[in-house]
Parts: sequence; C-alpha cells; structure tokens
Amino acid sequence: TSRYAVFGHPISHSLSPRIHRAFAAQFGIALDYTAVDAPPDRFPALLEEFAAGGGRGGNVTLPLKELAFTLCAQLSPRARRAGAVNTLTRNDGQWHGDNTDGAGLVRDLTARHGLDLRGCRVLLLGAGGAARGVAPALLEAGILEMTVVNRTPERADALVDALGEPDRASSRYWADLADQGDFELIVNATSAGREPGAAFQAPLTLVNSRTVAVDLNYGEAAIPFLAWARAAGCRKVVDGLGMLVEQAAEAFELWHGRRPDTTPVYEELRAQHV
Ligand code: ATR
Repeated sequence: TSRYAVFGHPISHSLSPRIHRAFAAQFGIALDYTAVDAPPDRFPALLEEFAAGGGRGGNVTLPLKELAFTLCAQLSPRARRAGAVNTLTRNDGQWHGDNTDGAGLVRDLTARHGLDLRGCRVLLLGAGGAARGVAPALLEAGILEMTVVNRTPERADALVDALGEPDRASSRYWADLADQGDFELIVNATSAGREPGAAFQAPLTLVNSRTVAVDLNYGEAAIPFLAWARAAGCRKVVDGLGMLVEQAAEAFELWHGRRPDTTPVYEELRAQHV
C-alpha cells in the first residue's frame, strides 16, 4: 500500500491527517496517512524508515522544513527558492522536495478571499522559514512591491538578497516601521504569537482603508497579530487555516493527480476550530 505521513515536532495537533483523508474521500481513495512525531535529530532516520515501509509522500511542518530541504536528492525550483521543503515525494528511491506554502497562501487570498494581489504593496513581517516559503509566490502573483522587516535585520537582508528582485523587494528595520507608509497587505510570518502571553505591537500608520492582514499561523498563535490588525482598522483579517488547507491540496494533487475541493474541508475545520 502507498503510505503518506506528516512529520513535525510537536505533531499531535496537526490537522494534516484529517485534511488529506477528507480529500481522499472525495475521490474514493483509501488513504493511509499518519502523523509522525519527529524530533529534528531523529527525523532523517524516521524518514528513511518511512520510505522503507512503503512511504510515498510526506508533509513536513515545524521545525523540520529546512532540514527536509537538506535530505532531498531533487528539489523543485520553488523549494530551492524557499530553502525549505514542506512536501516530499518518493521518486526512484529518492526524495523529491517541493514547497507548496506560497502557492497555498496565494490561492487562499485570491480564490477564497477574493483579493487582487496585483498592484499590492506588501509588508512581510519575519524572515524565517515561513517567510521564505511565501515571499517568492507573492512576487510571482504580481504584487507591486514587498518590504521585509525582521527582528534580526540580517535575516531580512538575506531573504531579500535571495529573492533577487531589488526593484520590488527590499528590507527595512523594525524600528523604522512608522516611516514606511501604508500597505494593502500585511503578512505576519513570525512565530512570535506562539510564545505564551505574546502581544503584537506595530504602528497604526501601516494600515489604510483597504489593508488586509494575514497571519500564517492559525488558532491561538494567530490571536495577537490579528487582534492588532482588527484594532488598527484593517479591512479584513485572515488567519493561516485557509493556507493550510490549500497547501495540502497542492500536495494532494502532486501525489494523486487530482485536485480536491477545498471548500467543504475548510468550512468544516473553520466551524470547529477558529
Ligand atoms: P518559521 O519556520 O515559523 O518561520 P523560524 O525560521 O524560526 O520559524 O522563524 C521565526 C521568525 O519569527 C523569525 O523571523 C523570527 O525573527 P528572528 O529572525 O529575529 O529570530 C521571528 N520571531 C520569533 N519570535 C519573535 C518575536 N518575539 N518578535 C518578533 N519576531 C519574532
């Protein structure tokens, strides 16, 4: 049998098994999809064990995406650009790595939330793995320009350098945010909200009457940023649940060659979770 799994640490709250099983049910596919708790030091061995046991595909979540990148024999251009892998496919005895996070975010924002990204000025908060995963896809979606801000400024500089589009993507200091004007899209790609008792602070001048705020996190981790965004008067606030479902759909299509209907799966999770 073909086996699939999501790898992460911790993993017990992962929604990926439910999402993939729901997609499979749409096509009458009997799916073996499990969640594997993989501390980083054990992930390489667990992945090999999974392959030996018939593993055909894997999703990778925190904190393993950069490590997964190093374990792949082949990489898609978008995984290479992100420096991180969230989707593994077994091909000819090797792992092929892809990254569907950016495509998932863009699809959630455009198809589900009706946003037109073309011409948007985008503020990207954070420069870690999550930020690197979505930045290229936002540029490809036709945004006007992207400003990257990170607590550790060197990482923002490195992300912007890797994007290689100096006319459209540049970095700024967090302390200078109040001088950056306003943005149509503000993306929180930091993990700050995952810290207990976290609050989010940023100048209200970042927001105009059309601003949409999106947090790549969902659930409790998205609360501080989205609370700020609401208080700042953003037109719309979006958490990462839709992106999660959409990146899963991209992975599902890679593995099974069929495009699932994400709407019922998203709505069911939304009704129960956030
Ligand atoms: P992920 O895969 O979630 O992106 P990561 O690669 O560890 O995880 O990156 C975490 C991001 O959240 C980084 O941009 C980090 O900023 P630093 O590069 O300065 O570490 C950011 N971050 C984490 N905690 C933060 C906090 N309390 N305030 C602001 N940014 C924070």
